[in-house]
Amino acid sequence: MQVTNDQQAVKTLQKLAADSRLDLSGAGIRRSSSRFCLGVEHGDYNGTELFGVGTDRFIWMAYKPNGTNKMRLFSGNFPEDGLVEFELGSVPAPKSAASADTWARFPFGVDYILHREGYKLTQGMDAVLYGNIPGGGMSRSASLSLNLILSVLDVSGIEEPDPMKIVDLAQAVENDYIGSPCGKLDQIMILFAKEGMGTHYKPADCSIQYVPLGKGASDFRIVVMDTGTVRPGLEKSTYKVRRAECEELVKKAKASRFQINCLADIQDEELYKKIRSEFEKTDPHLVSRMSYIYKAQKRFTQMMEAWKQGDIETVGKIFRQDGIGLRDEYVISGPELETMCDIARTVPGVLGERMLGGGDKGAAGALVLAGDADKLKTAVETGYPRSRPALAEKFAVHTCKVVEGIVLLKNPL
Ligand code: GLA
Repeated sequence: MQVTNDQQAVKTLQKLAADSRLDLSGAGIRRSSSRFCLGVEHGDYNGTELFGVGTDRFIWMAYKPNGTNKMRLFSGNFPEDGLVEFELGSVPAPKSAASADTWARFPFGVDYILHREGYKLTQGMDAVLYGNIPGGGMSRSASLSLNLILSVLDVSGIEEPDPMKIVDLAQAVENDYIGSPCGKLDQIMILFAKEGMGTHYKPADCSIQYVPLGKGASDFRIVVMDTGTVRPGLEKSTYKVRRAECEELVKKAKASRFQINCLADIQDEELYKKIRSEFEKTDPHLVSRMSYIYKAQKRFTQMMEAWKQGDIETVGKIFRQDGIGLRDEYVISGPELETMCDIARTVPGVLGERMLGGGDKGAAGALVLAGDADKLKTAVETGYPRSRPALAEKFAVHTCKVVEGIVLLKNPL
């Protein structure tokens, strides 16, 4: 069964509980969303402001304390991994080969990080989970980490820490246990997401502001075009290289007495030009990464204004320009992602399109007038299998709404 809403998810969880012989009657159900970044993509680890929304592809988890010190979890997405079972505080070492290829690395990582950070987990938990978030571009891993952290704390009766602390914990699960060099974008955009709102994060003071889409906006949809490719972990992809390049340029610029701590600090045009001329001969590729971040920050300000005005056409245009920058200056897109963008660009009603998230593979996204979302779907369904026949059975088009990030369903299982 294709699971697209809460009722279907509940049925699926009931079946998973029965199949895995876990007594989950009366268990709470936590739903965590995916996210869509409107800017600055690849800005989080460069220190820029961020803006994004929660989208309606989810992970649902039914969970309940089990009166022991054991965790027992079963994922309907990875049934081949079987029942994941371990004692609290007793998980494989971080980044160990034993857990590299199983989804169990997430509950292991949550246990590891919560213990490391001094949380006293006193209760084991039984849980079944199921998700419909495609991999690569919509933050499935952050959604899972957050869902697990909140549920594990809940069964031990631990009061939820400050939301930014939860963000840090979820990032630590990925950075320190799994070994993925991700930033904080995904966790922030999911944890704070509110229905119908954009979330604006400012790193200077770690503040969050909700920005409703201004009046007069044309009704629009967010469309995620999953290329059907599998993106390996960020630690094995171009992402890691780009992070290192950005850090390298900051280091070199500092050594040349420019006063910056991250690429986001380069906002002044004079400063930008000086750094560019200093390094464009020796390190043209690093200058190109800087150019993307510099220009994307400028566009970000315009995009925020357009969002507040309800000028979704301008938001779309900027999204498209960001995509070109990500492709040509940041060089983080991939051939299949660009095939999706090329198709989307030809469809009237598509306001903008670009690669999403970590890069190389995974999903591209588009902003499209609501009345034209079906046209985009048809165009992709026709064009993509022709260009990429090997992926004809694997790609998918998801038309998404802007939703709440974390929800406890009203009725237990
Ligand atoms: C991935 C990472 C995020 C962010 C995006 C790019 O999703 O997990 O931290 O860097 O890529 O914007």
